[in-house]
Amino acid sequence: MGSIDVPGRQLDVRAIRRLRLDGRQQYLRTILELAGAPGADQAITWVGDLQQGDGGKGAMTDRLAAVHQLVVRAQGGDNAGHTTVFEDDTGRQVVFRNHILPSGMRHPGRIGILGNGVLINPERLSREFEAIAEQVPDALDRLLISGRAHLVLPLHREVDERQEHDKFGRTVEIGTTQRGIGPANISKINRVGVRVWDLRDPHRVEQRIRDNVQFFALPEAKVRENVDWLLAYRDLLLARAVDSVPLINAAANAGYSILFEGAQGPLIDPEHGIYPYVTTSPTAFYSVASGSGLEPGRVNHRIGVLKAYQTMVGNGAFVTEDLSPLGARIREVGNEFGTTTARERRCGWLDLVQARWAAELNRYTSVVLTKLDVLDTFEQIGVCVAYEHNGNLVTDFQPEHEFLSACTPVYRFFPGWLRDTRGLTRYADLPPQAREFIDFIEDYLDTPVGAATKGPRDTDMLMKPASEIAGILVETPGLVKR
Ligand code: GDP
Ligand code: IMO
Ligand code: MG
Repeated sequence: MGSIDVPGRQLDVRAIRRLRLDGRQQYLRTILELAGAPGADQAITWVGDLQQGDGGKGAMTDRLAAVHQLVVRAQGGDNAGHTTVFEDDTGRQVVFRNHILPSGMRHPGRIGILGNGVLINPERLSREFEAIAEQVPDALDRLLISGRAHLVLPLHREVDERQEHDKFGRTVEIGTTQRGIGPANISKINRVGVRVWDLRDPHRVEQRIRDNVQFFALPEAKVRENVDWLLAYRDLLLARAVDSVPLINAAANAGYSILFEGAQGPLIDPEHGIYPYVTTSPTAFYSVASGSGLEPGRVNHRIGVLKAYQTMVGNGAFVTEDLSPLGARIREVGNEFGTTTARERRCGWLDLVQARWAAELNRYTSVVLTKLDVLDTFEQIGVCVAYEHNGNLVTDFQPEHEFLSACTPVYRFFPGWLRDTRGLTRYADLPPQAREFIDFIEDYLDTPVGAATKGPRDTDMLMKPASEIAGILVETPGLVKR
């Protein structure tokens, strides 16, 4: 290694440290400008699912964003569909259906970050900016995008659709969202992906897109089409591009509260889920590390959302799937139609064998049981506590399609509470049957259930007093509520 001659300055360890601190100061200035000073208490929180997805992560993130300053997406793309419902200042009900924008940006001064692990479709991003701008005009100014995040192109969506419809190059039908996320991840791993910072050099963009067109055996005309499409979003992306890894780390070091909004759930994690019926980006807790660059030991709250019953979109084994009128009734009452694709979600009773596997994998510090109100009218409520497999009783989940396809559920039934829970305001007011149901889940999962939700609105959460969730949301006065 050659030496660096810095005239007049001795580059000793202290000088090097000072230079590094100067670099960090730049990031902190950006954060200070947008979010103000850090609060007196720091929370670093991850919101994840315990099932396939769609457990209400968006709604939970929106609630928690009230006491965090940065909201980070670290994985997935616009295959996610996250719904938030709240009343604006005039009492009007507002619904946001975000696919790519982090939830919770309607809270003033929150910084949204799309980390390096997110796959960004800029057209979707631009449309979501338009949708949120009516309600939150400055949301656009508060979004930062990793310069290293990969972009999803029209050609990726085309390949995704082709694979699903014509079985091009694949005999298994996954039932993807057809948002191009799988092919975009193929480009990423194949080292021909286009990243946000590549847009600084249109020449490079064209070369990369050409590589993709050749790799996916698409017609030559696709090169121009995709280049022109992408360059139209150049300014939108580059104006917000940052090096998000040191920025997030600087924020954590300075005491800012950071919230990670997970997308998808552990059942479709490419490493741990029911392969091949999985998505292609990491979805388990480890995704925080790869997708944001924050050392995951720094996350002190891991909040898992668990729907009070089981749903699935797409294909793959589903032990408690109910194809009788019961499943259809859960679908109707729960309005179980995909946010992203409007597909009917497959429905059945809660599978605790599966949920305990998720709890062991992700080590949630608390669980929030969601959509409890959907069960209000059921005379009895089933939970799957074991599987029967070839005449044997099994209580350990194995994420294997063939194994799960051969399992039948063993249920324990609870009496329904047959009362409307939607108007309740305190956890203690829940009917005893509902509390018995929740206590059983807590025991089975060996993880505290800190709250239950009985409606989609931000105010529809009943927190157990003295729970971790209550601690984050109401008992930590030092956290910033702007
Ligand atoms: P996510 O992908 O985990 O963010 O969840 P989705 O937004 O895809 O799906 C959850 C759906 O249930 C959305 O339509 C929410 O508005 C709705 N929802 C969330 N919590 C509740 C609840 O407690 N009760 C009812 N009835 N609906 C809820
Ligand atoms: P949120 O964040 C539920 C499923 C698809 C399909 C599989 C692969 O809203 O919880 P993909 O398009 O990712 O290649 O599809 O993954 N899937 C989801 N299921 N919730 C999601 O996200 C999902 N995102 C993808 O249905 O089975
Ligand atoms: Mg969803």
